[in-house]
Amino acid sequence: MVSKRRKGKSRAWLDRHNKDHYVQKARKSGYRARAAYKLEEIDQKFRLIKPGQTVIDLGAAPGSWSQYAVKKLKENGQLIMLDLLPFDEIEGAQLIQGDFTESDTLDEIKSLTEGRLFDLVLSDMAPNITGIALQDQARYERLLDSVLRFCETALRPGGVLLTKFFEGESAQVIRTRMKAQFNQLKTIKPDASRTHSKELYLLALNRK
Ligand SMILES: C[S@@+](CC[C@H](N)C(=O)[O-])C[C@H]1O[C@@H](n2cnc3c(N)ncnc32)[C@H](O)[C@@H]1O
Repeated sequence: MVSKRRKGKSRAWLDRHNKDHYVQKARKSGYRARAAYKLEEIDQKFRLIKPGQTVIDLGAAPGSWSQYAVKKLKENGQLIMLDLLPFDEIEGAQLIQGDFTESDTLDEIKSLTEGRLFDLVLSDMAPNITGIALQDQARYERLLDSVLRFCETALRPGGVLLTKFFEGESAQVIRTRMKAQFNQLKTIKPDASRTHSKELYLLALNRK
C-alpha cells in the first residue's frame, strides 16, 4: 500500500509538473516530453543537427529528442532511435528496442547504417534510479563508458557527441578521457533542465 506521505509527495510533483512552463509548451507543440527543449536549446546554440546527417538517439523513449531531430533533418538523412523500453514509432526515424550495452543491439545498429559512420551521437540515457547514490552513479558511468566506446568506432572523425552527464567521483577521469577523444568539450546546463536536478550535458565536438 502507498503511504499517505508518499501519495502527498507524488501529488506535489504532479502539480509542479503540470504548472511547468516547458511541460505546457511541449503539450501544445505535440512533443512527447519537455526534454525536447533541452536539445532544442543546445542545437540552436551549436547547430548540431543538419539535413543529410546520420544520427543516433540513445535512450530515446518516449521520443521527444527524436521528434525534434527528425524535423531538423528535413527528410534528408538517417535517424535511429533506440531504447530499452517500447515506444511509439516516429515517421522518418528507425526504431530499435534493445539494451545499448548488449552486443546484439550494436549489431542491429550496424545493420541499419550498413557500416556508415555517424555524424552525431545523442545520448539522454539514464539508468533507473535505485536511490542509492553510489550505485546509481556507477550504473550511469557504465552507460557513459559504453557510449564512449561506441563513439571510438561508430562516430566519424569530426563528429559530435551530446550526452547527459552527472558529476561524480569519476567526473575528472571521464572529462580527461573525452578530451583525448574530442577536440573540444563543453559542459551545459540547459534552461529546460530542472534546476534541482543534478543533470548536466557534455557536448564533445570534433572527434579526433
Ligand atoms: C530521460 S529518458 C530519455 C528521454 C528522451 N530523450 C526524450 O526526449 O523523450 C532516458 C531513457 O534512457 C533509457 N535507457 C536507460 N538505459 C538504457 C540502455 N542500457 N539501453 C537503452 N536505453 C536505455 C531509459 O529506458 C529511458 O527511456
